[in-house]
This record gives sequence, C-alpha cells and structure tokens, in this order.
Amino acid sequence: MTGEQDEGWLDGSWQTTQWEQLGVDPTRPSVARVYDAVLGGKDNFAVDRAVAARRLELIPDGGQGARLSRAFLARGVRHLARLGIRQFLDIGSGLPTAQNTHQVAQSVIPDARVVYVDHDPMVLSHARALLTDNPFTEAVLGDLRQPEVILGDPVVKDFLDWSRPIGLLLLGIVHHLADSDRPGRLVRTLLEQLPPGSCLLLSHFCDASSEARALEEAFQQMLGSGRMRGEQEIRAFFDGTELLEPGVVPVVAWHPEEEPPGAEGPEPRTPSTLLVFGGLGRVRP
Ligand SMILES: C[S@@+](CC[C@H](N)C(=O)[O-])C[C@H]1O[C@@H](n2cnc3c(N)ncnc32)[C@H](O)[C@@H]1O
Repeated sequence: MTGEQDEGWLDGSWQTTQWEQLGVDPTRPSVARVYDAVLGGKDNFAVDRAVAARRLELIPDGGQGARLSRAFLARGVRHLARLGIRQFLDIGSGLPTAQNTHQVAQSVIPDARVVYVDHDPMVLSHARALLTDNPFTEAVLGDLRQPEVILGDPVVKDFLDWSRPIGLLLLGIVHHLADSDRPGRLVRTLLEQLPPGSCLLLSHFCDASSEARALEEAFQQMLGSGRMRGEQEIRAFFDGTELLEPGVVPVVAWHPEEEPPGAEGPEPRTPSTLLVFGGLGRVRP
C-alpha cells in the first residue's frame, strides 16, 4: 500500500502499545508483512524483514516468485470476470499492494463486488483505509481454519449474492495451514457452500525444487508456517470442481498469453518459477 497513512504507520512514531491495541505484535513476524517485505513494500517490521531476507537468500530472485504470484492473481481475476463472475470472496487477501482483487475485477466489471478476508488485523486496517470510497468492496477479519465462521459473517452473507456464482480466491494462503488443520476438508467446506457456476482460484507453494524444500524449513523455524506440497496434493484441493485448462501448473505457465504486453516473461523452470503452482476449477453443479 502506498500513501500518507502507510508512511505514518511504520515511520517509527507508533509505540508498541498502539500496535497491541490494534492486535498487531511487532515482535513476531507475520505472513502478510513478510510477503510485503519480499515484494519490496514498506508495511513490515525488522522481524519480518529478517524472514524475507532468508527467503531471498535461499531463492535469490529479488522477489520474482512473489511478483509472479501477484501476476497470477491479476490474470486469474481478470479471467474470472471475463467468464462473467461478478463477485469475489478473497480469503488471505494480504496487505494491499498494486493490482488488488477489487481493482482488477472492477477494471472489467465496474460494479464487481469483493469481500476481503484475512486473519491479520493489520491487513484489515489497511484494507479498510484503502476501501473507504469503494462501495463495492468490503473487508472482514476471518480465519480459514474456521470456514463456517467466515460463511456466517454478516458481511460475507449479505454483501455477496449467494444465489449467483462467486469467485473464491485462496491465493498463497493454504500453504500456511498445517496438515493437522486438515486443509482439504476446510477448502471442501467452502466449496460445498458456493452457488452453482462458482469457481475456485488457488495458488500454493510447491515442493518441486530443493530450494523450496529448504525454504519450508526456514519458514517453519522463523514464521511457524509454510508448507510446500506436491503437485498431486495441490491438485487435490480442486476435488469437487472441474479443473479448467491448463490444470494445476507453475503460476507462470497459467495463461501467460493473458499477461498485459510488456510484462516480464521469466525463464520457465527456475526455483523461483517452480515455487508457486496454481489453477482454476469450476464448482460442479
Ligand atoms: C502470502 S499472503 C497472500 C496475499 C494474496 N492472496 C496474494 O496471493 O498475493 C497470505 C495471506 O494469508 C493470510 N493468512 C494466513 N493464514 C490465514 C488464515 N488461517 N486465515 C486467514 N488468513 C490467513 C495472511 O495474513 C496473509 O495476508
């Protein structure tokens, strides 16, 4: 996120107690802030930058892997909007940066509706600050480990029309669930409640390189989450959907022809481009 508020929040003038009142612990790294640091953003603390630095040491790509994930988000949302999806539930939305879901969706469908959900209170504060003048976008706190609570949230229930297709976005979040959270069951709970014609756009860390496996160890130690899963395991999250072409692939290989002209075209098989796989499935009626 850019702008005056951003500068004000992290310019050192805030005291720990003020962060604590917001529910933010500046002494422990958070997934959203580490991701922001990898992307070169300013909404992060020293603890987050330490994790980001380790990530960039293990895969020295200058953050390209994260940028490719954001580019996948933009292509995926545009693709969904062109398929006629007019409303989105974006769980694990992250700290606002350029090309957020609502900006991409509303560039195709000006009144497309978006509800952002994240469990990080800092994400919620930033999102609300960014969204004050956007009548078609809302943000709420919610934890993917409690899908029923998300589905029962009054904003999620009332702001979206549950008789019409919804684009469910689970981008860069499911790999922060441990196996003991039974992530497949959590995703299925959400899919089962989606109206016919809805779609799931999902991206996930993949264990396809030795660098990714080393990164998993570092993330687990420093961040407490970050699970690399195999291609088959990632594909299984789409069970109950019709997986659309080209299936579950490195995000860089997912409809690269839909990238705006002039966008970066990376080497197809590097640790960076193999780090995140993604796909799009249509919920079976
Ligand atoms: C790596 S960021 C991805 C941001 C964005 N979706 C993207 O792909 O660019 C992951 C986000 O998921 C959120 N997150 C992680 N675990 C979560 C959970 N159990 N429930 C809700 N949000 C979660 C984090 O706070 C973070 O904002």
